[in-house]
Amino acid sequence: MGYRYIGSKVKIVDKVINKISELCMEGGTVCDLMSGTGVVSSELRKREYRVIANDLMTYSYHHSIVNLKFSKQPEFNKLINYISNKYELDSNKSPYENVINFLNNIKPIQGYFWKEFSVEGTPSNMGKSRNYFHPENAKKIDGIRYIINIFWKEELLSNYEYSLLQHDLIMASNDVANIAGTYGHYMAKLNGRALSAIRLECSNLFLKEDIDNHIVMQGYAEKIASNIQCDLCYIDPPYMKRQYAANYHILETLARGDEPEAIGISGLRPWRDQYSNFCTKTKIRQSMKDIVENMNCNNFLISYSEDGLLSIEDFQTLLSNFGDIYIDSFIHKRFKSNNSRLKNELTEYLIYLQK
Ligand SMILES: C[S@@+](CC[C@H](N)C(=O)[O-])C[C@H]1O[C@@H](n2cnc3c(N)ncnc32)[C@H](O)[C@@H]1O
Repeated sequence: MGYRYIGSKVKIVDKVINKISELCMEGGTVCDLMSGTGVVSSELRKREYRVIANDLMTYSYHHSIVNLKFSKQPEFNKLINYISNKYELDSNKSPYENVINFLNNIKPIQGYFWKEFSVEGTPSNMGKSRNYFHPENAKKIDGIRYIINIFWKEELLSNYEYSLLQHDLIMASNDVANIAGTYGHYMAKLNGRALSAIRLECSNLFLKEDIDNHIVMQGYAEKIASNIQCDLCYIDPPYMKRQYAANYHILETLARGDEPEAIGISGLRPWRDQYSNFCTKTKIRQSMKDIVENMNCNNFLISYSEDGLLSIEDFQTLLSNFGDIYIDSFIHKRFKSNNSRLKNELTEYLIYLQK
């Protein structure tokens, strides 16, 4: 995964996996209940676990499909057949490479992204234009979104192929976004990577005949907990007030392929339908209770951070209501926006809760 995501475990995935392997044997079922970029799920699959990946966000769903649900290179049978009438395919390239080449050569259009998220546009609800993307990149994104939506509506893509293309578009857009860390704000001037032309790349797929062992879900952990049975549940909740749905609104819009009202200076989509209780101190306790009590699982491993809304002592007290707890801690390099004045290191906790 090439993008910076608040709370991503990309830098400490080995520590998390090593702890999981102490607690759960290979071949066991592990739920990654708030999977985000999918880095933990993906590694669990490589280590021979059966994985249940879930998150609230649609982009996360697409990432998990890409990580867990391919056993061979996608063939894009219907789509290749369709585009071969309009576009000269390269016989030395795979169907997937041909589809990505086709998308990279699509005609740019002045659509929703150009209008709402580039300085050339005139947003529907704001006097001032926004600067998330170079206008040429915004038009390219519009062209690619438009054609992927057509392919989808015309049933030229399987569900997994659709997720793969959405994932590839998200990764490429993220590469050229004019942001300091999250999509909460854009930078005043286009800088660095934001000046390069957007290019979709084929994902490096992990291919294995184990896809029936894995399940990908999208929903509120609290609500779906009662449908999940697993040997161990890894929970990596938000630990700050910053709502993911607000901070990654543009990725969610790409993932959904829609054109919501873009509100205010930052152009947020209406995001309350993906509000997380874990970003509100007073709501964490009830949500943890709903998850731990309702899931058919006795072992929980929970990531938390020194930066958390709750102090580690308060979090420990909360969890001790549900069973025995054991805590490991280690120092970790912090996720920071470019302009943040926070210190570079923080303590991360891995809390084992045995129900
Ligand atoms: C700290 S991040 C997880 C990072 C992930 N482990 C990774 O390495 O990329 C927290 C995630 O929890 C998700 N989330 C927040 N509240 C949730 C809820 N109630 N149910 C399911 N997912 C939730 C967010 O969308 C976000 O992706």
